[in-house]
Amino acid sequence: MGQCLRKVAERRALNSLYFPEEGVANILDKEMLEELFKSEEPTHVINCAAYTAVDKAEDDVELCRKVNKDGVANIAELCKLYDATLVHISTDFVFEGSGHELLKEDDIAEPINIYGLTKLEGEQDVIALLAEHYIIRTSWLYSEYGNNFVKAMLKFGAERDELNIIADQIGSPTYAIDLAEAILDIIESGKTDYGIYHYSNEGVTSWYDFAMGIFDISQTQVKVNPIPTSHYPTRAVRPKFSVMDKTKIKKNFDLSIPYWRTSLEKCIEQLSILNNA
Ligand SMILES: NC(=O)c1ccc[n+]([C@@H]2O[C@H](COP(=O)([O-])OP(=O)(O)OC[C@H]3O[C@@H](n4cnc5c(N)ncnc54)[C@H](OP(=O)(O)O)[C@@H]3O)[C@@H](O)[C@H]2O)c1
Repeated sequence: MGQCLRKVAERRALNSLYFPEEGVANILDKEMLEELFKSEEPTHVINCAAYTAVDKAEDDVELCRKVNKDGVANIAELCKLYDATLVHISTDFVFEGSGHELLKEDDIAEPINIYGLTKLEGEQDVIALLAEHYIIRTSWLYSEYGNNFVKAMLKFGAERDELNIIADQIGSPTYAIDLAEAILDIIESGKTDYGIYHYSNEGVTSWYDFAMGIFDISQTQVKVNPIPTSHYPTRAVRPKFSVMDKTKIKKNFDLSIPYWRTSLEKCIEQLSILNNA
């Protein structure tokens, strides 16, 4: 997410954005963070840092909670002290996901895994500590950077003849470049409609259909078998249905959100440019 923000900031020639280098912004180290607040005097802070290893979190509860709750509270406290607005990224995994209705910002959050629980605790700390906050929940994040489903599928698709992909978990993918654009639009709008917001790309899909889209666009020849979640047990359970309602963010900030497949095409194009560079 952070790398996508940097790319979009460069594209917009936004020189006022500061991206801390590795090692100077450990969110668990409040003194270190305070030095950054003092030197940079931010009007806004965008927190992309998180413990995101969903399965590992089940056995690594303490560190996961430190990063996703205590680290987030450190940032919120400093934002309060130094009069900055916080944009904090959260997740669809705060929801239990057994329903079939679009999930709204004020729907009850009942996480079913440690990652989701600690992300919810982080949200709650932000709300308790700082009025000037945007909590943006997103889902199925991918881009040309880091490790993600799209890059994993392209790798496995090139290496294997056949893949089994879960077809009964339903959600909406999010191209992190689109989310970065939305975050900067929200900040640039100058509005102060603080609160929780939902953002993903438009449209609904399963992991199976998402994979089929990836292979179709990249013209990868691989047999893909749809399987139920029960055939691919993971350490952490995941919501079955986590499609979020984006009406609030679209209306409040006049945002137009791209369809997931349109954005997937853009990401795969960017990946092929990077791979051929
Ligand atoms: N990925 C998804 O599908 C997804 C879905 C919904 C919501 N989200 C949320 O979106 C946000 C961005 O996720 P992402 O996919 O970009 O995650 P990511 O690729 O795992 O990036 C998280 C970053 O946080 C850093 N970090 C971890 N502990 C830190 C600490 N103590 N201090 C400072 N930085 C620390 C990590 O650094 P190291 O690599 O050095 O540890 C990493 O660069 C997160 O809030 C995540 O919960 C993600």
